[in-house]
Amino acid sequence: MDILITGGAGYIGSHTAIELLNNKRNIIIVDNFSNSKKEVLEKIKEITKKDFKFYEVDYKNEKALDKIFEENNIEAVMNFAGYKAVGESTQKPLEYYENNITGAITLLKVMKKHNVKKFIFSSSATVYGNPEKVPITEESKTGETTNPYGTTKLYIEQILKDLYKSDNTWDIAILRYFNPVGSHESGLIGEEPNGIPNNLMPYIVRVASKSLKELSIFGNDYDTKDGTGVRDYIHVVDLAKGHIKALEKLEKENQGLYIYNLGTGKGYSVLDMVKAFEKATGQKVPYKIVDRRPGDIAICYSDPSKAQKELNWKAEKTLIDMCKDSWKYITRS
Ligand code: WQD
Repeated sequence: MDILITGGAGYIGSHTAIELLNNKRNIIIVDNFSNSKKEVLEKIKEITKKDFKFYEVDYKNEKALDKIFEENNIEAVMNFAGYKAVGESTQKPLEYYENNITGAITLLKVMKKHNVKKFIFSSSATVYGNPEKVPITEESKTGETTNPYGTTKLYIEQILKDLYKSDNTWDIAILRYFNPVGSHESGLIGEEPNGIPNNLMPYIVRVASKSLKELSIFGNDYDTKDGTGVRDYIHVVDLAKGHIKALEKLEKENQGLYIYNLGTGKGYSVLDMVKAFEKATGQKVPYKIVDRRPGDIAICYSDPSKAQKELNWKAEKTLIDMCKDSWKYITRS
């Protein structure tokens, strides 16, 4: 039985592919390399010493997806494919709605046709918008998203809820990621956004490696302990392991719709992250304080106790691990 991973050459998809292979699962990766690199596939094989099927296919291509389902014995799908840059999504809303939502619907239609009902969706803490209170639980209010990227995640969650209401033989896990950072301990794969990074950790890493001059900290006048934004940073390997536990939950229950926050439950400020990175790597991270970034919220961190209770999953890696692994990846030979 195979696990289909759309976007499996991407940052979170590739780390999850490694964990699945390490757990002796058969996987099939589908990716069109719109935001990933083909060599990641070789790195996954190098790290795990395992092979897997790969199709260079856009997940919006219904005919191609149909053929993949016909040729294989797929039991579950993990959907990582989708555009994910918050800032870019405000510039390209149509591309984001088309790719993320049409892609998900196409995938679900083909799954339905082949009676494959186990689906794990890569959602995001952005569905909570600006949280009324923290820590955020799965019962916290969603909606009022502040960018098209977050809205695509919200809409796909709604599509899944309606799908399950129409047919309760679906077996769905919605996983709301907080801020994924870090890289596999081998240093062979990691986060490699195209162009100038939007996210904090990839930017810090480039400043430390002197490929960028200094970090601009977007505002230090938030109502937080040091005025800078607070987020729940989670190591990408902990996040990947959460997907294994979610798959096991779906296999145990065989139907249902489950929603989990995947975070550490700890909030760290931008200055905490800078200090942790300098401590972990011995590298200096020069910075300047600039104006707030439009759309940013002050504080966002999770209450991950539901995943701990129902999935027997808990993030284990520390902020220092996240910084060390990120640095190891960018300084790989
Ligand atoms: C973190 C903090 C910034 C860059 C987004 C998405 C989320 C997920 C992660 C996909 C904030 C500050 C950042 C910089 C800074 N993506 N910052 N200078 O915005 O919390 O979340 O990325 O799933 O869904 O919403 O992450 O890393 O951009 O920002 O001061 O150059 O770092 O203001 O406080 P964010 P981020």
